[in-house]
Amino acid sequence: ALPYDLAGRRVVISAGGTREALDPVRYLGNHSSGKQGYALARAAAQRGAQVTLVSGATSEPGEPAAVDIVHIDSAVQLEREMIEHARDADIVIMAAAVADFRPISVAGSKIKKGDDGPAPIRLDTNPDILAGLVRARSDGTLRRETVIVGFAAETGDADGGVLDHGRAKLRRKGCDLLVVNAVGDGKAFGTDDNTGWILTADGQETALPFGSKTLMASRILDEAASVVPHG
Ligand code: C5P
Repeated sequence: ALPYDLAGRRVVISAGGTREALDPVRYLGNHSSGKQGYALARAAAQRGAQVTLVSGATSEPGEPAAVDIVHIDSAVQLEREMIEHARDADIVIMAAAVADFRPISVAGSKIKKGDDGPAPIRLDTNPDILAGLVRARSDGTLRRETVIVGFAAETGDADGGVLDHGRAKLRRKGCDLLVVNAVGDGKAFGTDDNTGWILTADGQETALPFGSKTLMASRILDEAASVVPHG
């Protein structure tokens, strides 16, 4: 049986990919399937948590049971919803694949082919939502006790620097836990299985067995629940 250790806890999870509009019909996007974030939402709800899932574009066929879902398109919308819903959260998990850049402006009507060939797309940098949540916790916008979890998708293997990149990212973002996924060569993206490591801010590193995203979700929640203050 699943532990019911998250009863009464508030868990906020982002999942899927952002879409950054170019014009009314086009966007810049990514291949995120949303599977890991949705698996986390289902697992947290089954363990008794009150879950809000902030979802971008996914290949998920439906909405998870017993979860409040908020749909977003862009990174800017995702940031607003995360800050809003994370205010009273015990655990916040950023599993979404957030676009690093967005078009500087959204054309009001469909961009035409033009006589001079393609028009350049100018980009602005999106906010780093995860780092912003960590800052919001320091300035008192979020509760001090809120556990913040990030993801890192890195190509390569343990010897090839994946873990080094993960450690550096954990420090840079300032979150409590970082789930490091090995991606590339058909690993992780869009598949049902996953593997990697969980790194903690105090230097613990746990290898995750290769397995389903459901199994991965429960291991991530075990780790997050173990650092949530009691009471
Ligand atoms: O820097 P990188 O994109 O590798 O970091 C991945 C982690 O940061 C993920 O948890 C992702 O959800 C989050 N992220 C974010 N805002 C961004 C880019 C990534 O919150 N603009």
